[in-house]
Amino acid sequence: MKYFVVTYGCQMNVHESEKIAAILENMGYSLAPDRENADIIVFNTCAIREGAEDRVFGNVGNLKRLKKKNKDLIIAVCGCMTQKEQTAQKLMQKFPFVDIVIGTFNIPKLQYYIEAVQKGRQFELLNEGELDEILPYKRTSGDNAWVNIMQGCNNFCTYCIVPYVRGREKSRKEENILKEVKSILDEGKYKKITLLGQNVNSYGKDLTAPVSFAKLLKDICALEGDFSLSFMTSHPKDLTDDVIEVIKSEPKIEKYIHLPAQSGNNRILKLMNRKYTREKYLEIIDKIRKKIPNCRITSDFIVGFPSETEEEFNDTLSLVERVKFDSIFAFMYSPREGTVASQMQDQISEQVKRKRVNKLLQLEKKLQKEG
Ligand code: SAH
Ligand code: SF4
Ligand code: F3S
Repeated sequence: MKYFVVTYGCQMNVHESEKIAAILENMGYSLAPDRENADIIVFNTCAIREGAEDRVFGNVGNLKRLKKKNKDLIIAVCGCMTQKEQTAQKLMQKFPFVDIVIGTFNIPKLQYYIEAVQKGRQFELLNEGELDEILPYKRTSGDNAWVNIMQGCNNFCTYCIVPYVRGREKSRKEENILKEVKSILDEGKYKKITLLGQNVNSYGKDLTAPVSFAKLLKDICALEGDFSLSFMTSHPKDLTDDVIEVIKSEPKIEKYIHLPAQSGNNRILKLMNRKYTREKYLEIIDKIRKKIPNCRITSDFIVGFPSETEEEFNDTLSLVERVKFDSIFAFMYSPREGTVASQMQDQISEQVKRKRVNKLLQLEKKLQKEG
């Protein structure tokens, strides 16, 4: 019996697909060369922008053909998209040949759902529960090992669906993280550890005995072995001096920070609920550059947030010009149902968003050329 996993979205999902693969291999499945040859296909989905969801609808729709050829084929859809009840319902209505629809929190029970389907039960829709700590992973990223340090997000940036589909911040206990990293290092196959969380800088605040992110970094670096350590993502409002200090002083930590700015305009930043200003953002950048001169810095930007004027968009351009990032990701704002920004007045047309994103990417290209 063979399996195939299709992954959309961020590193968090890539890593969760490693968990899915481990569950399936534990059940006796082995990796299929492609979806055509699989007995079970799992779609691990992303809800961050409409485009991501559209792709899933298209690709799941295409599986109907495979299901016709092999009626025993099991199709499961999980991840952030199916964590939203309405989207899950829509998926089930549109594609009755899908066997399992579950949210991110139910992945640890995947084996149970598959066995239920094999016994003839048709459908499960579940999007509650707790993520399990102790599951193994089938690590698939070469000599890099992902390590999840926390789940969820408390920030509620007004454009973002993540807090709704991933729940509130929940940190793993430091001892469990250290144990996992140690066992990864003991395997001897991995040279790189990448810590994952939506907002790693607020790691540990919710623990009964709080631990700071800086301490976690130091304690991981203290583990024996020849490895490099990196992490994502940092929120500018929470990037503290002690974290910058640890990055500077620990030779094992990569000199690299992904620090999404989202916009260079204060009115838009406020509407986004980002909790920092352009000035504050630039101050942090200057601090990083002063303390760690060789640090690579990358960023994310959203253009065409509701009511963004041409002038306000120009503030994003000037911020990018001023900082000269090592690279940036630029996204056209995509309204997500249930978020505050999707209800705001003055939504920007696709045409204007496209124009702005192109302009931003062009500037980025020009800056890259100039080095
Ligand atoms: N927790 C991380 C990652 C969030 S998702 C962070 O806070 O940076 C990755 C990127 O997707 C975000 O940085 C943002 O630029 C973009 N994004 C999130 N929601 C979006 C939306 N509704 N439309 C367009 N881009 C979005
Ligand atoms: Fe979304 Fe903001 Fe949380 Fe990042 S910090 S996941 S953008 S709500
Ligand atoms: Fe997408 Fe979920 Fe990650 S919405 S970006 S897969 S947290």
